[in-house]
Amino acid sequence: MSQMKPILCVGNTVIDFVTITQSYPKEDTDRRCLDGFWQRGGNASNVCTVLRALGSKVDFFGMLSKSVAFRALLEDLRQREIGTKHCPETEKDPPFSSIILAQDSGTRTIIHCNKNYPEPTFEDFSQIDLSQYGWVHFEARNPTQVSKMIQSIREHNKKTCQRITISLDFETRYDQNLQLCQHCDIVVFSKELAAQKGWETAQETVEGLAADITGDGERPVIICPWGSEGAVCLDANGNFHKVAAYKPEKIVDTLGAGDTFMAGFIYATFVDQRDLTDAIDFANRVASHKISEYGYDHVTKIIKI
Ligand code: FRU
Repeated sequence: MSQMKPILCVGNTVIDFVTITQSYPKEDTDRRCLDGFWQRGGNASNVCTVLRALGSKVDFFGMLSKSVAFRALLEDLRQREIGTKHCPETEKDPPFSSIILAQDSGTRTIIHCNKNYPEPTFEDFSQIDLSQYGWVHFEARNPTQVSKMIQSIREHNKKTCQRITISLDFETRYDQNLQLCQHCDIVVFSKELAAQKGWETAQETVEGLAADITGDGERPVIICPWGSEGAVCLDANGNFHKVAAYKPEKIVDTLGAGDTFMAGFIYATFVDQRDLTDAIDFANRVASHKISEYGYDHVTKIIKI
């Protein structure tokens, strides 16, 4: 494992303000919460956190900020030894999310505020020496720039025997981000976006997405976590698999469960070299462990059997 190349995660890092309530609040009422905390969030940023907790070497690539509010996020990245050396910087305030964790239902409700925060460009990405990485993970956003980043990895892969695996976390803006899928090796698609598409089952979702992915190259593996039902996937040959979920001891904090699944899958595939369904099984296990406590630190305690 010491020879293992690091993983690069490309996307956003934001401030999450988390409020814990007994039940979801009624509109236009004034009440106290049970507790609260803030933490570094954002999909790619959370994937970095969980990968580090599992013991991987990982770098983050996204827009950093010079604002005072961002210093706490930088400090957290530094403490966890998540590399940021290639990241561009802006003067603008970072994006943030206001999150309600309702204890009775176990839901997490996210209201995200982005304020047109700048995105890294392909030019920023092109400064990176790709040969140092073994896996590059993307959050599906900023498609014009990200598709160029993905293309450059594919070009890199043609020239080397140490191929970089490309994964994509597809959670928002179906029509805009769909174009990113065809050039990736693995696409993880969210249940929430499936609902927006009107897809009612996990199988309908992976098959629906596969039918929409055009291009005549190899098709990506498509994975869809489906909450307490587990996760399904269509492998590169189009074969369908279903992997059962783990029942968590208790449901405490579902914020970032999808990001945790993603990180668990990358870890199991890349670091542990597990096969597809075994890696999904591990991802299910890490995600179920994550939701049993607040935050991500307890992920370090998972036993990697
Ligand atoms: C969870 C999350 C949060 C963030 C939100 C929007 O998946 O990454 O940490 O606030 O989604 O990026």
